[in-house]
Amino acid sequence: MERKALAYEGKAKKLYETEDKSVFLVEYLDQATALNGAKKDAVKGKGQMNNQITALIFEKLADKSIPSHFIKKTSKNEQLIKRVEMIPLEIVVRNVAAGSFSKRLAIKEGTLLPFPITEFYYKEDRLDDPFINEDHVAFLQVATKEEVKKIKELALQVNQALQELFVSIDIRLIDFKIEVGRTETGTILLADEISPDTCRLWDIETNEHLDKDVYRRDLGDLIPVYEEVLQRLEEKGA
Ligand code: TMP
Repeated sequence: MERKALAYEGKAKKLYETEDKSVFLVEYLDQATALNGAKKDAVKGKGQMNNQITALIFEKLADKSIPSHFIKKTSKNEQLIKRVEMIPLEIVVRNVAAGSFSKRLAIKEGTLLPFPITEFYYKEDRLDDPFINEDHVAFLQVATKEEVKKIKELALQVNQALQELFVSIDIRLIDFKIEVGRTETGTILLADEISPDTCRLWDIETNEHLDKDVYRRDLGDLIPVYEEVLQRLEEKGA
């Protein structure tokens, strides 16, 4: 399927129309950003890593009866997706304290949480993606209360499936972010990407960071770390 007009350009991806109105082509870019775009670098090879990792993860989730917008990978850095109406939320699920959760609540990074904690962030660059609650989501008319319930259920299902997948490759899933969209018939569908950009992944033995914190915290080169995740997923991901 051919690329047509550019429909949307994000920080790490470009979305193109195709000859099929219901299908977009996504190009993953060699671009790393953090702090809502304040830190930004070209990172050669990152686009193909995240495209391949996301494709593999969405395939594994589909095998576990969690469908997404993913259709198929068409090249190393491109994939076809179903067109959905994106809901402007970042939904975060946490199993272990880290990042902004640790900072906000003064909980030591690495503290195991007694149950998965779901959080909502309003995707609005102008406001720096603020942390909001379910009433805010309904007030802003971002999603109905009914949809919020479905989104939470989906996020927890994804958490369960991802934890199983990552533990099978000796990785601990600390937390992750997903985004969702609405199909034409109103079904909530998993969308965007799931990659080391959007998850915190720690090696089960060493607690080594295998995710974008390597870039956010200037801990070293990102590409060998992403390659390691891809290789483990390709070799023995459950
Ligand atoms: P946080 O601890 O910075 O709130 O991040 C929680 C998780 O969400 C972590 O796995 C990184 C991911 N995340 C994104 O994918 N995009 C974002 O814009 C943010 C803030 C976090």
